[in-house]
Amino acid sequence: MTVRPQDTPGAPMSLRPRLLGGAPAAPPSVDPGVAEFRPETHSLPGFFIWTLGCQMNQSDSEEMAGQLLAAGCLRSPSLEAADLVVINTCAVREHAEAKVIGRQGLLTALKRARPGMRVVLTGCGVRESERDGLARRFPAVDMFLRPDEEPELALRLGLVSAQAPIGLQTVSTAATTVVSGRPVSAADRLAASRSTALAEDRVARSSTLSAWLPIVYGCDKTCTYCIVPFSRGPERSRPFDDIVAEARSIAEAGFVELTLLGQNVNSYGHDLPAEERFAHIETERSAGRRLDLQSRPDLAELLCVIDGIRGADGGPAISRLRFITSHPWDLSDRLIDAMASCESVAEHLHLPIQSGDDAMLQRMGRQYTLAHYKLRLARIREAVPGIAVSTDVIVGFCGETEAEFQATLAALEEIRFDTVFAAAYSPRPGTPALRLADDVPPAVKRRRLNELLARQHTIGLERNREWLGRDVEVLVERITPQRQVAVVSIAPDDADTAAEPGLDYAGVGVPDLAGTAGEGSVALAGRTRHNKLVHLAGDPELIGRAVIVHIDYAGPFALRGRVVATPIGPSPGVATTVVE
Ligand code: SAM
Ligand code: SF4
Ligand code: F3S
Repeated sequence: MTVRPQDTPGAPMSLRPRLLGGAPAAPPSVDPGVAEFRPETHSLPGFFIWTLGCQMNQSDSEEMAGQLLAAGCLRSPSLEAADLVVINTCAVREHAEAKVIGRQGLLTALKRARPGMRVVLTGCGVRESERDGLARRFPAVDMFLRPDEEPELALRLGLVSAQAPIGLQTVSTAATTVVSGRPVSAADRLAASRSTALAEDRVARSSTLSAWLPIVYGCDKTCTYCIVPFSRGPERSRPFDDIVAEARSIAEAGFVELTLLGQNVNSYGHDLPAEERFAHIETERSAGRRLDLQSRPDLAELLCVIDGIRGADGGPAISRLRFITSHPWDLSDRLIDAMASCESVAEHLHLPIQSGDDAMLQRMGRQYTLAHYKLRLARIREAVPGIAVSTDVIVGFCGETEAEFQATLAALEEIRFDTVFAAAYSPRPGTPALRLADDVPPAVKRRRLNELLARQHTIGLERNREWLGRDVEVLVERITPQRQVAVVSIAPDDADTAAEPGLDYAGVGVPDLAGTAGEGSVALAGRTRHNKLVHLAGDPELIGRAVIVHIDYAGPFALRGRVVATPIGPSPGVATTVVE
């Protein structure tokens, strides 16, 4: 594969200066010697980032927000009020792209009313091989940036002044490579640009509680249905020391939860050079393509080193360490042992199965069998008793027979996942599966999806009932908006999918909890170490704290309980002393 740096970015797009609504923000203090070169605060655009898709997109949006804030822009409260709208797209299913196409009319009308408004489209929807058709499909968009071009957002918009951080002025990250004869995004420079952004304090994290930390970009796997290898390119791991340094700064900033991110987070490190200090690492892949993994850092090593970052009390400085998404190929014994031995690693694993039928798994290019999947799961359940396991399933993939579908249902019945994120197969442009016939009729896909969700509804309920009567640690995350405290089923505009990772689903029939724990108490929601969603009532001050909750209700998607001990540990966002 060849990596071809892109030509220098095109001319910056002009953003017509416009007075922002409301009181102007106080201009930041600037060295008087350079003040004359700085654009006036009121002339910079207010921005809004609409993020779709997975946690990687959420993390990327934090970097883009950081760039725009560093350039002096301000956040807008809504898409409608913004001068600059950045849409960070997902392309995993047609429906995800259709959502954005469906907003083109609104965006065009907004631009007509306010001619200075600009729209930028980024993320997996921007693929080099389909660049020609983008303007036709997204007529309201002024600029398209592939995932590897996102660090150049502010620069290309012409928002970078001479006083902006050096990294913003000089960054050039755009690169493509060739996969299956087509040009695709290459993540070769994203690791370096993230390090620069961190050094210049240009990552605007969206929470003071939980932090995302990307460790590997792209995907090298062979799933025939999936667009990700074509939207994000081959796997590229960040240097080990950069990741540890970022984790340390996250710990020092007082975050209580850290999630390591990658499309295949557990394949981390295979593309890094072998080093003497990692000579003890002798991982072997148990399925899929063989790789030389000797003496290279892996996810297990990262977990152990991050777990070893300690606070003044001697405990892990970050109390909950998570990682998503793992692939069955790379679920090594070393990783399982690290999960079992590192006290901060949360007792939850997301391990996509996709299908319970071997012939189907082969057509999907997953390169493991159901037996292999079950063996790895048995090993982890033995090492981490009670671990919660969630998964992804696709129904109605090319040629799926009723028997193959029933095999998937039987696998769910046998494995008893805590949560299943299920979707109907959606053909994606340029993927190998296009060579197979998409021959399961839409009505059959829908029926199978509903049948699977109904089956999982029962299993999820039974799994959750195991928590009844127990006292569990809940990290309180947010006030539950009234509308979420309702019966939840598949949203009507999202009929091809249910329970996307990253979305929260209120428990079916959870009543409004506001006021039930004394005057001023509100409905709150948080998660256990096992990633169970828990509804509770309490003081809003509890947000960001870990409390002990007695579980007295279990629904298929969530638990409910009352606070019996509060709070545990330091307040979130308060600087923590990390012991060297
Ligand atoms: N890397 C992860 C893995 O090992 O599967 C998942 C990442 S993928 C972006 C998230 C999920 O989207 C997949 O697990 C799969 O279930 C689903 N997905 C991907 N392509 C799809 C398609 N064409 N139609 C329906 N669902 C799809
Ligand atoms: Fe897509 Fe498969 Fe890569 Fe997951 S492992 S991102 S499903 S190609
Ligand atoms: Fe979607 Fe891209 Fe993530 S296709 S799921 S945003 S990697």
